[in-house]
Parts: sequence; C-alpha cells; structure tokens
Amino acid sequence: KPKACIFDLDGVIVDTAKYHYLAWKRLAKELGFEFTEKDNERLKGVSRMESLEILLSVGGIKIDDENVKLQLAEKKNKWYVEYINQMTKDEILPGVIEFLELLKSAGIKVAIGSASKNTITILERIGLKDFFDVIIDGTKISKAKPDPEVFLKAAEELSVRPEECCVFEDAVAGIQAAKSAGMKVIGVGDPTILKDADKVIQSFQGQTLGLIEF
Ligand code: G6P
Ligand code: MG
Repeated sequence: KPKACIFDLDGVIVDTAKYHYLAWKRLAKELGFEFTEKDNERLKGVSRMESLEILLSVGGIKIDDENVKLQLAEKKNKWYVEYINQMTKDEILPGVIEFLELLKSAGIKVAIGSASKNTITILERIGLKDFFDVIIDGTKISKAKPDPEVFLKAAEELSVRPEECCVFEDAVAGIQAAKSAGMKVIGVGDPTILKDADKVIQSFQGQTLGLIEF
C-alpha cells in the first residue's frame, strides 16, 4: 500500500476544469473562433502559457509577440479568478472529503500536486488549505506536466520514495507525469480518455482504502 497520495487539484478535488474551460472559451470568442469541449481535453493539466499556445493553434492564430501572449493569458486568468472567487466548500467533488479523511486516519500522507498558480486561492475558498501535508503548485515548479517535476517534488517534501506514492489525476498529461515519476496513478474521469492510468474511477463516492491497493 502507498505511504502517500498526491492529488491533482483541478478536476480531481474540485471541478475548476469547467471554469478554466469557460474562461478559455471566452478568450477564443474574443479572438473570433469557437473553442469546444473536445479541444479542451488537451488543456487539462497543462500550464497557463502552454494552454494559450494550444488554444491559439486550435484557432489557427499566430502571435509572435510574447507581450501580447502574456496579456491574453492574463485576461483569461482575470476571468478565471472571478469564477473561482465565487467558489464555496459545496464545490468539493462528492466523496473527496470522506476519502481524504480515510487516508489520514490510516496514516497515509496527503499532498497536492497541481500546475495551477491559483492553487492556494482555491484551497482557501474551499477550506482545505491546512488539510494537506504538502502543497506543490505552479509557483514552485518550472516544468509543466507531463514532466514529473511536480510529483517528484511532492514526494521529496513528503520524505517518501516515488514508488511509495499514488497519484490521482483527471488529465492525460498528469497521468503521463505520474508514470514518468515512477508512481502508481488512478485516473478520475472517463476511462476511454485516461487509458494509461493503473485504475480509473468515476468519482470518490463510496471508495475505500482498497482502491489504493495494487
Ligand atoms: C491545472 C489545470 C490547467 C491549468 C493549469 C494552470 O493543471 O488543469 O487547465 O491551465 O492548472 O492553472 P493556472 O491557474 O495557473 O492558470
Ligand atoms: Mg486536473
């Protein structure tokens, strides 16, 4: 059984993926194209600037000026922050709290491993900031998922070896990152999309410790 569980935030603990999507969609509209849910899969787990690059390529738009790109990313983030500032505890996904408490009572450490620079804001909004033993977010890493940096850093700060960790992820890039880190990974979402995960769950509702036995 793993000694620690590392949770992605967006799409695993809370459904902020929908707010990211709304904000990117709004930016796409302003740039004159439609951005669909299918295209949005590619943005999950990916850093803000890389997401912008993908969005622009979907719209067939070429921008060379770095400052213009930064302004666009900032605009998207402003809208995104407006959405997340409205969040409450009620938006924690079903079964998450119960599962986290189950882990804690079994002496298993818990961490957040997210690419988001808004991680602390979100955790504060939903009242979970002090629950995690370690939080590694977009402000502490230099390489975005699928690079394993975020999860390896979490393991290091937790003082456990990568092979003693189990990661929970909703994104293809995140599953790749966990695998390259040498960790077990449980996908949260659609098994046809998350097919490289060791297991896939639809939600945390009713899950027991048996879930993290491999
Ligand atoms: C998470 C989300 C991505 C998002 C990234 C950066 O990994 O899944 O969709 O682009 O974080 O988030 P940020 O809040 O820093 O823009
Ligand atoms: Mg995610």
